[in-house]
Amino acid sequence: MNNESSATQSDVSMLAAVQPLVDALAGTCLDPKRDQYANGSPRATRNPAIFTKGSAPRDVTAYAGSGATVKVTVAGDATELIDLCSMTENTILGLNDPWVKLKQMSYLLSRRPHYVTIRLGYELYYRVANRILRRFERIAGEGEYVINMRECTGSGAVELALHAAWRTAASPGRRRLASFRGGFHGTNLGGILVSDHQPERGSGRVLLERAANVEVFPVPRVDQVGELTEDALATLTTLERDGDQYFAVILEPVPWRNSVHVVPTVFLERLREICTRKSICLIFDELQSGFGYTGAISFGEVCGVTPDISVMGKGLTSGHGALAIMVARRVYGEHQSPFGFKSNSGSMLSLVAVDAVLDRLLGLEPEDAGALPAWLPRDLAAELEAGLLSTTYPQTVAMIDELFGELRLRFPSLAGPSTGLGLMRGLVMLGTDGRPSPHLAAEAARVCLAHGVHVRQADAAIFVKPCIVISQSEIDQALVGLTRTFEDVERLRMA
Ligand SMILES: Cc1ncc(COP(=O)(O)O)c(C=O)c1O
Repeated sequence: MNNESSATQSDVSMLAAVQPLVDALAGTCLDPKRDQYANGSPRATRNPAIFTKGSAPRDVTAYAGSGATVKVTVAGDATELIDLCSMTENTILGLNDPWVKLKQMSYLLSRRPHYVTIRLGYELYYRVANRILRRFERIAGEGEYVINMRECTGSGAVELALHAAWRTAASPGRRRLASFRGGFHGTNLGGILVSDHQPERGSGRVLLERAANVEVFPVPRVDQVGELTEDALATLTTLERDGDQYFAVILEPVPWRNSVHVVPTVFLERLREICTRKSICLIFDELQSGFGYTGAISFGEVCGVTPDISVMGKGLTSGHGALAIMVARRVYGEHQSPFGFKSNSGSMLSLVAVDAVLDRLLGLEPEDAGALPAWLPRDLAAELEAGLLSTTYPQTVAMIDELFGELRLRFPSLAGPSTGLGLMRGLVMLGTDGRPSPHLAAEAARVCLAHGVHVRQADAAIFVKPCIVISQSEIDQALVGLTRTFEDVERLRMA
């Protein structure tokens, strides 16, 4: 179906079937149309000083949104922003996805437990776990993987993965871990120690500044004819030679901070082969690339290489709740308390959200397909039948291709190569010397907000990671905003 009529543009509160409830709340403090959070006491008014440094809300204030469109006020004036970074990488379904909201509403209106303590079970765990594991079983054997759904943040799930790999290491002598330049794996101790990406290196962290057993290797690349570079071959040689000392290799399949690079499949294949032979745990950190952004739930489905452990979060709930998961080969499924048992992991609404996101990306489970409400908008029902990954995803990728193609045409000396894969994309910014320029990419990411677009900087590229349901008119609007942005950047480049 055409992205232009994407079901995401429908607002749940406008659905006739939901209207009686909306009407019943009208005029009360529960009125969904009332701006309940705007007119607080003077103490609640904007005062950045009450927040820790850098965590205060920005001056651009979001107040509504749908799909890739965020309605914002800037210094009191209302305007619109096209979010090409899906609310900074979290919302694969864009803002206010009607299906996720309907499923959460249904849950809220039920008497089912909104929270289940860690000591009790609940059916939803099994349903969601089975749906995710089925995807992994497509690339490995049945029953090959187990899952942990008890973490809230990606950092927590990364730390759990590190623990699982460490605990299962083939011998106590294996203490080394391989990670890659520019990689980022979280903000807790485990995540920080295995990350190369450290904005303030050496400035002191919690308890430890660095871990001597973490080896950081160059980003794996191929040359222009598709052969592994010398650096990449040297990494494989080192792991082959010293493999008996390594318990794990952790990598992001799309390490976007490196100008949205994609780790070549040929490297992953060779790495997989070494890790299997040397019994090293291969960890895919799929916090950024998982759940739809590369056209599948897990990158293993895209590249055909199976990790021993995969870690996911963010897109998982599409921003409708905190949850992160670890999917691990059975042998890595053991961990020691307190790992893997976060006490605040019982938010059922997050699990409902994952279930709904799976419906949207893959299509409904057969038992639900025949029981959709008749009043559901036809577009949404059709999307739910087919699943967005098989229908909308290729169209959205094509729209991004066209957007980048047009920008390169309009700005031949500024807009360089297009990088990345699927919905994780980069457009390299070039200096007057024709070389990739992190400075200009940073400038583009800075000025774009003033032109109604949100992109981020990824080293020398602008980082574009749109929601899957972005529409053609939103892309057209983004083209206008990016054109103005690039005009500004060209002027800066000349200055
Ligand atoms: C690749 C990667 N791993 C781990 C994390 C940590 O996730 P969280 O911020 O949910 O703790 C992030 C966060 O941006 C990430 O990008």
